Amino acid sequence: MRWQVVLFFSMLSLFYVLGQVSYSVPEEMSKGSLVGNIAQDLGLDLKRLKTGKARLHVGNSAEYIELNKERGLLLIKERIDREALCKQTTPCALHFQMILENPIEFYRITVEIKDINDNAPIFKMKDMVFEISESAVKGSTFILEKALDSDVGINGLKSYLLNRTDNFALKLNDNTDGGTEVEMVLEKPLDREKEDHLTLTLTAVDGGEPQLSGTVQIHITVLDVNDNAPVFTHSTYKSSLMENSSKGTPLITVTAIDKDQGANGLVTYSISNNIEGILDLFEIHETSGEVRLIGNVDYETSKHYQLKIKAKDHGGLSGSSKIMFDITDVNDNSPIIDLMSATQSVLEDSILKTVVAVMNVHDADSDDNGVVKCFLSEDVPFNIESTANGFYSIVTDSDLDRERASEYNITVTCSDEGLPSLSSSVTLTLQISDVNDNAPVFERTSYEAYIVENNTPGLSIFTVKATDADWNQNARVSYILEGSSINGVPVSSYVSVSADSGVIHTLRSFDYEQIKDFQFRVKAQDGGSPPLSSNVTVKIVVQDQNDNPPQILYPVQTGGSLVAEMVPRSADVGYLVTKGTVLCTVTATDADEGSNGKVMYSITNTLDDVPVIFPEVLSEFTDYIQDKEYNDNLTFYLVLALAVVSFLFITCLVVIISVKIYRWRQSRILYHSSLPVIPYYPPRYSDTLGTGALPHVYNYEVCRTTDSRKSDCKFGRAGSQNVLIMDPSSTGTMQRVQSEKIILDEPDSPCPPSPVASLSPYRSQT
Ligand SMILES: *[C@@H]1O[C@H](CO)[C@@H](O)[C@H](O)[C@H]1NC(C)=O
Ligand SMILES: *[C@@H]1O[C@H](CO)[C@@H](O)[C@H](O)[C@H]1NC(C)=O
Ligand SMILES: *[C@@H]1O[C@H](CO)[C@@H](O)[C@H](O)[C@H]1NC(C)=O
Ligand SMILES: *[C@@H]1O[C@H](CO)[C@@H](O)[C@H](O)[C@H]1NC(C)=O
Repeated sequence: MRWQVVLFFSMLSLFYVLGQVSYSVPEEMSKGSLVGNIAQDLGLDLKRLKTGKARLHVGNSAEYIELNKERGLLLIKERIDREALCKQTTPCALHFQMILENPIEFYRITVEIKDINDNAPIFKMKDMVFEISESAVKGSTFILEKALDSDVGINGLKSYLLNRTDNFALKLNDNTDGGTEVEMVLEKPLDREKEDHLTLTLTAVDGGEPQLSGTVQIHITVLDVNDNAPVFTHSTYKSSLMENSSKGTPLITVTAIDKDQGANGLVTYSISNNIEGILDLFEIHETSGEVRLIGNVDYETSKHYQLKIKAKDHGGLSGSSKIMFDITDVNDNSPIIDLMSATQSVLEDSILKTVVAVMNVHDADSDDNGVVKCFLSEDVPFNIESTANGFYSIVTDSDLDRERASEYNITVTCSDEGLPSLSSSVTLTLQISDVNDNAPVFERTSYEAYIVENNTPGLSIFTVKATDADWNQNARVSYILEGSSINGVPVSSYVSVSADSGVIHTLRSFDYEQIKDFQFRVKAQDGGSPPLSSNVTVKIVVQDQNDNPPQILYPVQTGGSLVAEMVPRSADVGYLVTKGTVLCTVTATDADEGSNGKVMYSITNTLDDVPVIFPEVLSEFTDYIQDKEYNDNLTFYLVLALAVVSFLFITCLVVIISVKIYRWRQSRILYHSSLPVIPYYPPRYSDTLGTGALPHVYNYEVCRTTDSRKSDCKFGRAGSQNVLIMDPSSTGTMQRVQSEKIILDEPDSPCPPSPVASLSPYRSQT
């Protein structure tokens, strides 16, 4: 089909050129292909061609076409490449001649070679490489390599296409020399941080049918520019640390990111605060971004710290952030007790809840570390009360008594609730001042004192004493005699009391016979205001002195002797007066009392005759005799003497009887005569030698009370019905034994004359 069309055009050219024929054939036709029927076109028959030895003349040109004389045709002798034959020249044609001989004839033949699209556009370089800074401005142009297409005309290079036009656009510039420049124009700035490498494809296409194309890769490396500042990962960092954190504690590590490359992306950290002192507390590591504590933080000074930090790259760009440090409280402060007001002393009668001290307590720590509780030492009658926030008052909690405790050391201890708890304490000394709340107290509930009558006036009898538990003036006791009267006489005329010392003096001489005792009250009063007092009863007992002689009441002493008649004058020595025989009743009285008032009766021998001794003198007048007052010593000696005498007497008696019996037996044996038994005479008192008058006055003391009669009988019976012998001269036992013997030996001795007894009162000494 194609071939037929080409032939048609060849035939058309034949008709217009005589003697000259033109053909047109496409390039690249295979060998032997028909170019044209030249015989026919030139009107020559085949014989002429043979005879004329027709041949083609190509000159220097290579032979692409050959002549077939038998058929009179022009055929392709060699494949024709238009691009090799003509390059870009158009039109491309082969010019040659056909020469005939016999006659020589000359025909010009032109064969035009038509282009076909047999070449695609091509780029010489496999790829194009560009390095473009990301800072390249919009509109920057980059010249690209052109593509080549060997074909001409419509089959030649037609246009370019660029794949990926995000950043770049393609621009074709017509040159003055007719060529075309292919340029790439930056439409949108590059960002290395987004895409550091771009690959574009440039495609060149021709206008042939079918269209052919060629491509080339454009490699673009985006060069970094320090267009990014370091950026911290957080706009604010938060961290906390304890206030007791030690130096060097790592706190937090911050990071800033710089998207740039290399030095542009190298970040160094620093603290940018200009607050004084903060650089002494914190430091940041230049490259690692680690923040450390290098000083001591104090929660009580600052609870928060704000650290401004900066990150800087080597290109000079910087970013900033901040770190908020919260300081955590640690219980590092003890409570502080501020004693605002404290009284030195308080009255002992102060009412309950009396405030004695006010104090303010605070703890610099916070929360539980700063919650303070205060308490007192246990053993004080005070309490601590919280009045307002942080204010405490110490009040009395129970009754005070200066007499029990005059001083208190109140220790206030305040401790916080931290862990471990811290505490502090303060001690205040409080004096309890005295109030006159104690009356003087006498040492005894009552006093009894004795004074011997006939005392000298002004004599101090004794001392009353009262003590007062109060202090100082309140305890100063004065003694006052309470006004009263004794028998109508004011007591103040009897005694006086020394106000200071309490010594009681007599003011007069007392007479027991007039006043035996009296009592009065002494008041002790202290010096308080109002004063307190107490009183005590003082009883003064006047003691008797033997200052009154007995008075014989009956019989009335007229000088004569009434009892003289009572004893027969003829009575023998040893005449036994029957016990109980009342001779007479003598009544005497003594104003004194006790032993002083005891009346003793004794018989005074007023005559010179040997006395007749009454074995007992019984006085009915014994009502006031009191045995108790008897002198014990005297009794003892009397008993002792009596015992000795009795013993010796009995011993002698036994010896004498033994001797008598012995003699009697002997005489019986010898004479066989019976002698009458010697009767037993109880021993009796006699004069030592049984002769002559006694010059002595024999005093017989008979102590008798109505009740003591029996007890006194001991005395009397000790002698086994014997008559008591009292020998004041104590001339010796042997003497008496001897006298007894004499009496016994001479039983018929004449009776001494009856004595006349007289009574003489014996005054005993107390
Ligand atoms: C452009 O390139 C992309 C891949 O990079 C490809 O998918 C696409 O077909 C290409 N377009 C043209 C017109 O060549
Ligand atoms: C800080 O105080 C806390 C609580 O009192 C304690 O546990 C910790 O050991 C202390 N740290 C230092 C470094 O003293
Ligand atoms: C109070 O303390 C003082 C000083 O320590 C001491 O002398 C005094 O005896 C104390 N008083 C009492 C009642 O404990
Ligand atoms: C003496 O004391 C008693 C109580 O001990 C009291 O009843 C009396 O009134 C007091 N007498 C005087 C005179 O003060």
